[in-house]
Amino acid sequence: MHQGEDFQGTAEFIRDRTNQLPTIGLVLGSGLGGLADTLGSREVIPYSDIPGWPQSTVHGHEGNLVIGELQGQIVAAQQGRAHFYEGYSPREVAFPIRVMKALGIHTVILTNAAGGINPAYQVGDLMLLEDHINLPGMVGANPLMGPNDDALGLRFIGMAQTYDRRLRQRAADVACERDIPLHSGVYCCLSGPAFETPAEIRMLGMLGADAVGMSTVHEVLVARHGGMRVMACSGITNRAIDSVDSEQETNHEEVLEAGEVIVPRLTTILKGVLSNFPA
Ligand code: HPA
Repeated sequence: MHQGEDFQGTAEFIRDRTNQLPTIGLVLGSGLGGLADTLGSREVIPYSDIPGWPQSTVHGHEGNLVIGELQGQIVAAQQGRAHFYEGYSPREVAFPIRVMKALGIHTVILTNAAGGINPAYQVGDLMLLEDHINLPGMVGANPLMGPNDDALGLRFIGMAQTYDRRLRQRAADVACERDIPLHSGVYCCLSGPAFETPAEIRMLGMLGADAVGMSTVHEVLVARHGGMRVMACSGITNRAIDSVDSEQETNHEEVLEAGEVIVPRLTTILKGVLSNFPA
């Protein structure tokens, strides 16, 4: 068996380490891992202990699986994730989602840091993914490439109903009640690790992207393949630069800094969604 294939074995390893039975998975992106610190009855398993689990090499990704309680739900939260640009295949990047499914998790809520392309988006805003553009996927970097295991999911999956409408509605209601700036938009995934050129940002804007980042869609594909319910939310950590005349340059530090404003907002949204979880 290849690295990143034995998700049943990995799920058994995790089951042996906890008595809690998570039903909701959280994936916490760059600078957003702090949300897992708010879980009750926390049990922390470092990724380095978990067989087959892809390790994140990126600053701002703590590298723990945290199992605990949030608003009456048992959740398994990934504090940090692995990325395609770190040299993992899309399949390896999405391996933790297969493990979550094998653990009995039915819903995954993914978060990421993203650059805002839509002119209305400001640093610190949230954007609920209503759809995505998977540019690496269009040229073959897709975790579902290769022979299909029919026991896991269909060969050809539909992607028109990817981001659960009721979860999005619930998140939008919470944002409205709590006065949190939450947009609904299209996330474009690129491979990275270089940030985009201004010409690329203008191109992505023309294609209909509202925000751009380097993660999430591989995991979303595997979650949908496994029939899981999906919600995903970007934290807008910087404005994507669309002109060579700009004096700015995008950098990872600003991405992590913005996380400090975004984590409390995201925490409020997620708590609201989980406390009144739509059936
Ligand atoms: N581009 C790509 N990925 C990102 C960005 C960005 O501007 N900000 C945070 N992740």
